[in-house]
This record gives sequence, structure tokens and C-alpha cells, in this order.
Amino acid sequence: MPGEYDIDLLLDLALEVAAEAAGLARAERLAAVSQISTKSTVNDVVTAADKAAEELIVSRLSAARPHDAFIGEEGGARTGSGADGVRWIVDPIDGTVNYVYGMPFYAVSLAAEAGGRLLAGVVHNIATGTVYHASAGSGAFRDGERVTCNAPVDLGRSMLATGFGYDPEQRARQGAVLAGVLPHVRDIRRTGSAALDLCMVADGTVDAYYESGPNVWDYAAGGIIAAEAGAVVSGLDSDVPGRAMILAAAPGVHGPLRGLLRSRKADSAFRSVTG
Ligand code: IPD
Repeated sequence: MPGEYDIDLLLDLALEVAAEAAGLARAERLAAVSQISTKSTVNDVVTAADKAAEELIVSRLSAARPHDAFIGEEGGARTGSGADGVRWIVDPIDGTVNYVYGMPFYAVSLAAEAGGRLLAGVVHNIATGTVYHASAGSGAFRDGERVTCNAPVDLGRSMLATGFGYDPEQRARQGAVLAGVLPHVRDIRRTGSAALDLCMVADGTVDAYYESGPNVWDYAAGGIIAAEAGAVVSGLDSDVPGRAMILAAAPGVHGPLRGLLRSRKADSAFRSVTG
């Protein structure tokens, strides 16, 4: 239960550590983009700054809270030994391809959860310095100002964000799903950062976001921020988002969008890769 944790303390730590990691990634960008390696496919890039930022985050969190568990995109993971079971979910740079190209949509994403329940989340846009945060039951904020998702609109007048994975077969399926969605919505945007897509649902820059295949570090912090801004955040069939599908939408749009995505078997994009 959120009341059993000092959520303000977790949030303050997340804000502080995310700001420090964002500063490192910003300062190192020009040097880092000349040291790119690839991960799962040739499109799945990682830079020296992704690794350095994750190391910094883990070392700061470990110093402040040595018993917490964590999982990070760049391979950092530790089982916790604390009685309260807090786990940190770390994406040092969500939107690494944007980071490489200089598109201003890349962010540090940091969330704290316990018992499967998100307690706090911070998404710090490294390029612009915009900071989104939320904690359980306390609302969502952009640069300290409360934000709420858009009021209900119908699906046909909704702006959607979505994303694509790195596996070519998965991308082909995601494209096929998108072809079935596009005629039914106002328009589609693909920023290249799931964390920021979710924050844009939170502040009403878009009405909804869906994606099949992102990892928990891509969507955990953005997910609590969108939910605390009033969006409905779910999977396709489950009420809990997962890798097969995360769907976040203003309440009036969530049901119709979920129906459309179900009719297009939108979670098959991820299942095609995992079997
Ligand atoms: C990616 C971004 C992208 C989403 C991909 C993610 P990364 O994260 O969030 O928007 O579509 O599914 O993998 O690789 O830049 O940390």
C-alpha cells in the first residue's frame, strides 16, 4: 500500500538522481554519439552515455537506499534485501536514437515500485529540461505545474502517439496494425520515446498512446504520470499494462481505442517475436 512508504522521499530522490543523469547525458552527447554500439538489431543503438548514466543512477540510488532492488535498460539489475521491497525501474536514456540524431525527445525515466504497484515516477527530458513527475495518489506535474489529460473526445477526433520496436518482423506487424488504426483517428505521432509519449498523454499534447513490445523501463515512470493525470492505463485485455500492450488514453477514448486495437489483434506484434 502506498501509505506504508515514504513516497515523498522516493520522489525527491528520483527527481534529484534523474536531474544529475540528465546533466551527464547532455554534457556527454557529442562525445557519446561517436561511440555507438548496437544491441538486439542494427537499429537498437546504445551509446557510452546510456551506460554512464545508468551507472551513475545505480550508484546514487545504491548509496541512498542500499537495500532496494533495481532493473535497468543497460543490464543493471539487483535483487533487493529491504523489508519494504522497493524496486527502481531505470531507463537512463529513453529515446536513444533521438539522442544520437539530436531530435529533442530523449529522457531519463525513473520509477519506484513495490509489490507490483508504482509509487513514483520521474521523466526528465534531457534536451529541453522539462521534468514530469507523479506519485501515487498525488497527481501529475510538468515543471511543478499540475497537468491533466484531455477531456473525453471521440476516437475520430483523437491524436494518438505510438512506437515501434527494433525487430523487423515486429515492425512489419506494428505497421499493419497502424494501417488499420490510422483511418479511425485524427492523426498519429511517433516521437521515439515511450516515456515522453506517456507524459504527452498526461499533459494533453496527445489524447492517447499505445504500443506493443516496449520494456517496463520504457513505460513505468510515464505510466504512473499518465494515470495520475487522469488517463486510463492498461493492457489490451488486462487492466495492467505489459510488454504485449500498453495503452494510455483519456477516459472517453480508452474504450473505443481498446476495441479497435483488439479488432486488429494489436498485441500480436509483440507475440510474433516472443512466440
Ligand atoms: C524505445 C523508445 C521508443 C519505443 C521503443 C523503445 P529506447 O526505447 O521508447 O519510443 O517505440 O519501443 O524501445 O530504446 O530508446 O530506450
